[in-house]
Amino acid sequence: QTGLTALDYGFVNTASTQSEITYIDGNQGILRYRGYPIEQLAEHSTYLEVAWLLLYGSLPTADELGEFDEKIRRHTLLHEDLKRFFSALPHTAHPMSVLSSAVSALSTYYEGQDPDDVELTMVRLLAKLPVIAAYAHKKSLGQAFLYPDNSLSFVDNFLRLNFGNMAEPYEIDPVLSKALDRLLILHEDHEQNASTSTVRLVGSTGANLYASISAGIQALSGPLHGGANEAVLQMLAQIRDSGEGVGKFVERVKRKEDGVKLMGFGHRVYKNYDPRATIVKQSADEVLAGLGVADPLLDIAKELEQFALQDDYFKERRLYPNVDFYTGVIYKAMGFPTRMFTVLFAIGRLPGWMAHWREMNLDPQTKIGRPQQLYIGEPERRYPGA
Ligand code: SDX
Repeated sequence: QTGLTALDYGFVNTASTQSEITYIDGNQGILRYRGYPIEQLAEHSTYLEVAWLLLYGSLPTADELGEFDEKIRRHTLLHEDLKRFFSALPHTAHPMSVLSSAVSALSTYYEGQDPDDVELTMVRLLAKLPVIAAYAHKKSLGQAFLYPDNSLSFVDNFLRLNFGNMAEPYEIDPVLSKALDRLLILHEDHEQNASTSTVRLVGSTGANLYASISAGIQALSGPLHGGANEAVLQMLAQIRDSGEGVGKFVERVKRKEDGVKLMGFGHRVYKNYDPRATIVKQSADEVLAGLGVADPLLDIAKELEQFALQDDYFKERRLYPNVDFYTGVIYKAMGFPTRMFTVLFAIGRLPGWMAHWREMNLDPQTKIGRPQQLYIGEPERRYPGA
């Protein structure tokens, strides 16, 4: 009767869909965290400084940032029993499954303790998620887990846990550190995307932050969402190995052959170039050159982008590269296996997930999530003989 459709309802009856955290203009390709343009933050800030900005609404003072950084360093150790959790899993386990399960298991060590100390829980997750991620990576390699070295920066500690080993000292590479820090900033928040909406929905029931983040990680793992960065590399490698060439591949996409999509292209909100993709593409050449890596997959990606942007099929549907299109080439050049790419996305997105969870739970108006349904099934019917 109202002429409204299910789409008009969306989440209106559930966790609030208004927020002060991130602004996106999909037509203009604008992204701002707490009012600051992503381009400026990517150029001048750091992952932890932006995490504070997202969580608390303004840039931290030098003292606030120093204290935040110090607190996180002091919480990087996992309980020794939790490290045994990894030995129960096959080395073939996908790191995103490991990450989500381990975060859920992490909460069991703090049950009964300061359950409402959200600030401490957020510090614990920021400190421990990268360690869990690195252990999932080492597990897949059959290599020993290292202990965190808290004399290192957040990013260098993470890189050492992934690429260091027990036999020799880890050599910090400033090109690698800066490039990874910038990529993490680009992923820190993105308004109410599928995984953030999942975190809000789970949090709106009163479930704790660990449970909400564990659910968000699973939502992110899907190939239409964060899992796309892994799928892009598989797509580029398939084009390289099949020898079919970019043109033939694009024709298959346009014919929707076997549901094939141009992974890393298109977006629910951006109907213009994703500003994050612009930054990643600009830094890809610089990072690969800085790391002394030449990768034909980057050339294939650039050729694919050029082909698609000139093709009416993609122009009519306003399909442009999104954040996932070029990131994988850089992660690969850094030495991460493809199956770790979405884990890197999750580490990046953690501050945004927590900022939304905290914002929602601080709002006394928040109600439990309950997406509105529009019933389009059978009218009332009588059971035979009733
Ligand atoms: C992320 O929401 C966020 O903010 C997410 C994210 C974040 O930071 O949290 O930005 C991160 O998830 C980025 C998106 C990563 N996913 C991919 O790259 C997977 C490939 N992309 C598509 O699956 C798709 O573009 C979506 C899921 C991202 C968006 O889908 P939409 O906006 O709902 O588009 P649609 O499915 O309605 O498609 C509209 C048309 C269709 O064609 P027709 O049926 O009209 O003929 O465009 C076509 C689609 O077939 N289309 C594509 C395409 N994406 C859409 N065709 C080929 N390749 C694609 N990638």
